[in-house]
Amino acid sequence: MGPGMPLLNDSKSYGAITKFFHWVIVALFAFQYAAGYTMTSLGAKDAALGFTQANYYNWHKSIGLIALGFAIFRLLNRHFNRLPNWAPNLTKSDKKLMHYYENWLYFAMFLMPVSGYIYVMAGGYGVHFLEMTHLPNPIGKWPLLADIAKWTHILSSYAILVALAAHMSVVLRHHFVLKDGILWRMLPGRGMKPASSSKPSESVSKAG
Ligand code: HEM
Ligand code: HEM
Repeated sequence: MGPGMPLLNDSKSYGAITKFFHWVIVALFAFQYAAGYTMTSLGAKDAALGFTQANYYNWHKSIGLIALGFAIFRLLNRHFNRLPNWAPNLTKSDKKLMHYYENWLYFAMFLMPVSGYIYVMAGGYGVHFLEMTHLPNPIGKWPLLADIAKWTHILSSYAILVALAAHMSVVLRHHFVLKDGILWRMLPGRGMKPASSSKPSESVSKAG
């Protein structure tokens, strides 16, 4: 985050806060998927990379709840901070796609931890947070709710992969095929390379 990168979003670019938390969530989601698949395919007595199945469960639950904290922060940041204008070069349908899937991804950032939490509490498994402390269970055993939350968690985890693929396909196609540098908008620095051969950006906010 060198000089020249604003902290907050402005009309031309995302600020450092938005960029930083975007990539924090990418890293945490990657961890959640890796741990989620590892723990559900290991046996109760197996270990992988030196960690037991129980370790993976504990860290999946803990990191998932921490991700919920970041999601709340991101949502507030999106509400109280303007969005930059759209990247030039995006067609009307690109913009629609981006907006549509960004909303999905925001929803996912809440749905996943909340459904996971309800599942383990209503199922009576609890959360050994950071392997340090057992969180209280405000729900109590409620098998039907546990089942609903569990299937919400599992089915949504697949639906999110569809949203992510769509999100990434717009970005990667623009960046690597159309070569308009859109990825730079979310990377440290000052936004897109000025060299892009696009027509001037319409001066409308992404939110508008
Ligand atoms: C960003 C948040 C989260 C993501 C992206 C995520 C993702 C996943 C994925 C991909 C799986 C494997 C699904 C499958 O079996 O195919 C999974 C399973 C699971 N997750 Fe999460 N998770 C998140 C948060 C949480 C939280 C906060 C908890 C609990 C406090 C939790 C508890 C569980 C449990 C218990 C399972 C095993 C489900 C089963 O019995 O098959 N998750 N999660
Ligand atoms: C490797 C995977 C990813 C890449 C390459 C990527 C890239 C980008 C880029 C370049 C933008 C800026 C688009 C623009 O407005 O011009 C963006 C925005 C956004 N991305 Fe991603 N992204 C990835 C993963 C994710 C994940 C995992 C999530 C959430 C679960 C996510 C949620 C969002 C959201 C909500 C925005 C809109 C800006 C905001 O409100 O923070 N992205 N992404």
